[in-house]
Amino acid sequence: MMTETFKQPDDALLDELKTLLGPTGWKEGAEPTRHFEDPRGRFEGKARLIVMPETTEQVAQIVSMCNAAKTGIVPFSGGTGVVAGQLSTESDNAIILSLERMNKVRDISLEDSVLVAEAGCILENIHTVAAEHDLVFPLSMASKGSCCIGGNLATNAGGIQVVRHGNARDLCLGVEAVLPDGTIYSDLSPLRKNNTGYDLRHLLIGSEGTLGIITAATLVLKPVDPETTTVLCALETPAAALALFRNVQKELGSSISALELMSGFGLDLVTSHFPTLNAPFSELKGWYLLLEASGPLGIRERLEAALADCFEAGLLSDAVIAQSDSQRQNLWDLRENTPEANRAAGAFCNSDTSVPISKVHDFIVTTVNMLMDINPQLRINTYGHIGDGNIHHNVLPPIGISKMDFVTAHPNIIEAVRMAINEATAQFDGSISAEHGIGRLKTSDLEMFAKPGKLDALRHIKHALDPNNIMNPGAIVR
Ligand code: LAC
Ligand code: ZN
Repeated sequence: MMTETFKQPDDALLDELKTLLGPTGWKEGAEPTRHFEDPRGRFEGKARLIVMPETTEQVAQIVSMCNAAKTGIVPFSGGTGVVAGQLSTESDNAIILSLERMNKVRDISLEDSVLVAEAGCILENIHTVAAEHDLVFPLSMASKGSCCIGGNLATNAGGIQVVRHGNARDLCLGVEAVLPDGTIYSDLSPLRKNNTGYDLRHLLIGSEGTLGIITAATLVLKPVDPETTTVLCALETPAAALALFRNVQKELGSSISALELMSGFGLDLVTSHFPTLNAPFSELKGWYLLLEASGPLGIRERLEAALADCFEAGLLSDAVIAQSDSQRQNLWDLRENTPEANRAAGAFCNSDTSVPISKVHDFIVTTVNMLMDINPQLRINTYGHIGDGNIHHNVLPPIGISKMDFVTAHPNIIEAVRMAINEATAQFDGSISAEHGIGRLKTSDLEMFAKPGKLDALRHIKHALDPNNIMNPGAIVR
């Protein structure tokens, strides 16, 4: 991994920024802070100064000053990104711009079914505000209690309800952003249709802070479904999970709101690491599918009927249907604590691949075989958002060996595993980053696997909007 060298900011710029923000609006970069933490513990961020503006105007002034001085800025949202997009990993000259104090819901319009949130709003707080009006904002993921909407949009986050509601970009109608020269681009309109040239909103969404800093967004709210039902199915193969999905879809249409694959190995990791979580079946099965459907009253009965047909057809061997909110939460806890259990068990490689849904099963089998060829003692926890074709392979050392000892004894293992997964991804026409982005971790992977023409186009766009390369330099393209 390499980051762009950040130009050292001079004392005059640092003083100007501190004066602009006042004593509570900045922190000196040398102190340890959450702004330097990588959620997977692989990197440590650095910075000269951390600035915490309270208004869009302050963000614009900071960006203007840094642009004039050609000093790089790393935007920081909830800090939950896993590709080091929010961390300056090599240089301590970066200025981190944290949006944590811009955390208000500015407006809600029930007639337009939208809410305008500032970038530093924690995702779960947006859920709460929507719920107060009997509405939902359907973007959701395990980190919802700490990730913020600015970062969700900057990375075009996916999560657990994409199968029905789409990615972050599908749930955003407008953005307010500060462009690299300090201009405030304000387009928070709730328009559903707006074909007026290049869509800057969609350029900024997913740009990981390299083209501007999203400071607020107009988000789509949806009605609460009268009934939600959650089921954990035990099955033999990922192919059976997909066949079950197709069969249930015939009965429930687009009511399936989540479809999460888990492995028996992964479920065992979670229940061993979190002893308060209950394993739902007495005996461990090969694969599990967590399926949630939401819709009109009666959806549960229809799902039960569809599952009975799937059982007859031999697609599943067992199923547990949540009978209460707490049972539903218990099933989701098994899924949502998976990343933490992987980390605790020493996962040293975590992939984020998407392949066409028709190829998911073969992709999983091929990747596992490739990894077994590298070292047959590797343990692999394969799970993910199977309804989107988005699979995470988490690769762990052999049982009883710590990550540190294993990686030290096998110095090339991380690279070999990463490349094997990348090659399988290419073989099955997939994407090396389905939902986490490129950040600084995957810039060389993007260089290797981008479609012809893409890198040049990205670099031209970057240069046109940010000629001084001050916005998150080193992320996405180098
Ligand atoms: C998940 C994160 C890692 O799905 O994307 O758990
Ligand atoms: Zn995921």
